[in-house]
Amino acid sequence: MKIVKTIAEVRKQVKEWRHEGLTVGLVPTMGYLHEGHASLIDASHRDNDRTVVSDFVNPMQFSPTEDLESYPRDIAHDAKLVEAHGGDLIFHPEPEEMYHEGFSSFVDMTVLTEELCGLSRPIHFRGVCTVVSKLFNIVQPDRAYFGKKDAQQLAVIRHMVNDLNMNLEIIGCPIIRESDGLAKSSRNTYLNTEERQSALVLSQAVFLGMNMVKKGEKDCSVILDAMKKHIEAEPLAKIDYVKIVDCATMQQIPTLDRPALCAMAVYIGKTRLIDNFFTEDV
Ligand code: PAF
Repeated sequence: MKIVKTIAEVRKQVKEWRHEGLTVGLVPTMGYLHEGHASLIDASHRDNDRTVVSDFVNPMQFSPTEDLESYPRDIAHDAKLVEAHGGDLIFHPEPEEMYHEGFSSFVDMTVLTEELCGLSRPIHFRGVCTVVSKLFNIVQPDRAYFGKKDAQQLAVIRHMVNDLNMNLEIIGCPIIRESDGLAKSSRNTYLNTEERQSALVLSQAVFLGMNMVKKGEKDCSVILDAMKKHIEAEPLAKIDYVKIVDCATMQQIPTLDRPALCAMAVYIGKTRLIDNFFTEDV
């Protein structure tokens, strides 16, 4: 397993693999890897001959008030995890390698980015689409792997790949949870002991909503009211949003009459956490 810092080194390695007729999977990450990322690397290792993991905290997807500086980083830990799960190459560039002086081109999207996280993080998806496009151009993978925890991100990337005729397959992988239900996230490290306990309201609300769907409830406001009531009972929790949207458009729907995503963002103290379920997975 190799760690490289330049685009030229990634291209050289991938070119060699291509000459040998090997397939390549890409797992884009911002590092500080946990079992959620490990499951993406496992999936890529299963489907492809070689796996590239990008490990880059992308400044372009953080607004000036967000946690770019404090976002956790640990490349030595990441390298061990990637190796243990069969990854072949880590691409760990400096920001200047990805965004040279004079960089001024962006990939942007309307509609899907205007709901859910796009409302409270207006520049976020432009940063994600731009960096993911760059990673696709650099690695030119056969497949790329994204977690369903970032459900809107997954929908946005699928849409971008379709709109811009990018020649690869996007694979969405299930949310990985702690044993008590909390969805794995690098941001969980921000939580103190009391907040860690309070953070369980997110997954509890997800399970509550899933159960209502399982029992046949179709009225989105009934499901959302029950979920919100549960979260609001926790003093440290402050809801950013809890919504049910059409899977394809990310627009809110009143009734479960098509494949839908029920997604939430909730502040636990200062930490903003997300969780969700797809009705098709219930
Ligand atoms: O999901 C993430 O970690 C990031 O948004 C991604 C896809 C690696 C782009 O920076």
